[in-house]
Amino acid sequence: MEFVFALIGVAVAAAAYFIGVKRGGSGAVSKVERLETERDGVATELGESQLDLRDANGRLDEAQTDITDLKTLLGERDLEMRRMNKRLAEAVERARRYGGEHEEVRARIQAAVDGEIWTQTLDPELQEAHNARRSTIPIIAVGNFKGGVGKTTIAANLGAYFADAAPDTARLSHRVLFIDMDFQGSLSTTLLSVSGGEGGNRVTHLFDADMEPPQAVATSEPLRNRALSGGCRFLDCDYTAAEQEEKLLFQWVGGAEAKGDLRLRLADILHSRAVQDNFDMVIIDMPPRNGVYAHNALAAATHLIVATKHDMISAQAIGKFVEYLEGVRVSLCPRMKLIGIAPTMLRQSDSPRGFVEPMMLDAARLWRGGGDVAMLPSIPLRTAISSSAGRSFAYLEDMLVRKSFSNLGEAVERRL
Ligand SMILES: Nc1ncnc2c1ncn2[C@@H]1O[C@H](COP(=O)(O)OP(=O)(O)OP(=O)(O)O)[C@@H](O)[C@H]1O
Ligand SMILES: [Mg+2]
Repeated sequence: MEFVFALIGVAVAAAAYFIGVKRGGSGAVSKVERLETERDGVATELGESQLDLRDANGRLDEAQTDITDLKTLLGERDLEMRRMNKRLAEAVERARRYGGEHEEVRARIQAAVDGEIWTQTLDPELQEAHNARRSTIPIIAVGNFKGGVGKTTIAANLGAYFADAAPDTARLSHRVLFIDMDFQGSLSTTLLSVSGGEGGNRVTHLFDADMEPPQAVATSEPLRNRALSGGCRFLDCDYTAAEQEEKLLFQWVGGAEAKGDLRLRLADILHSRAVQDNFDMVIIDMPPRNGVYAHNALAAATHLIVATKHDMISAQAIGKFVEYLEGVRVSLCPRMKLIGIAPTMLRQSDSPRGFVEPMMLDAARLWRGGGDVAMLPSIPLRTAISSSAGRSFAYLEDMLVRKSFSNLGEAVERRL
């Protein structure tokens, strides 16, 4: 019995064993399948990841393209910005300049209103060149801002004295260049009558922008008269010159003068070789007003004669004139010498030793420049002078007048 039981036991154990083996074999298969499934899953995931990676790379490329575009855009903006800043800086600079110009024009207009338009100092470079000018011939201006005091009469007859082709003494006959800078044209009338020419308003051409000295000399009119030295010439003017003076004033106030200084135009011409080599003397008849012509005359002159009547009002006028000269002396006429005061229209009753002459001398002592504060020989009041005015030189027509202007001429000659 026991054996049977043992046998059954063995049989059960064997069965159990085989069942177990059988069972263990099917577990390995499923593991492989699982692994294969997992592998397929991983492969799928890998494929998807690769796709994702490709997508990501594509997006990266897009992003980089975007960055490049942005950089280009930023560069353009930067460039644009810089251009704008440059334009802004230029606009600011222009505004500043216009502001400055406006201020300058405003100051010039104010100076014109205050009557100081022509008294402004010269540009330093021009000043230096102006100070260095040397004339080898006397350039004599006859002036006074008071009207009717004999300026033109003295300029004409003194010029005739120096130009005299047959002088009374052994002195030389001068080639004189006469310049009428008063648009009233009194001197011009005499000169045109003496030479038989026609008026050409020649002074105005001195102010043509491109006028060169040789051309200015060629523009002047020969003063043909047998009583005068050959080579004398003149620049005449008439009332149309007044228009030019006004025009020049407005140009000056507007700051339109491109090169140089309008006040030095005559000086530039008269100090040129073209004038210095062709004349022995220049005589300028100044206007009775302080405009552009008067300042040109002062800037060009090497010497000044103050013409005056022999009375108290005229003595006071000398003070005002000389005071004005002092205001412009350093810049416009730093080397101009005062020759003296020339009294004219002296009546027999006028006493040179009275109080008028000391008054005149006192007034003239306001002058701090070179030369003499002295009374020159006076010219008496003579009908021969007034009757020849505008027609001829009284100096050439009347012996007494000739004597008076000879005295004056000799005194002038000694002071040159
Ligand atoms: N010594 C004199 N004897 C007589 N008449 C004279 C004498 N001097 C000048 N005259 C006359 O007096 C007037 C004024 O003289 P002149 O024209 O020379 O002065 P002016 O200072 O040049 O005048 P303006 O300021 O108007 O230019 C003229 O008619 C002139 O003929
Ligand atoms: Mg005059």
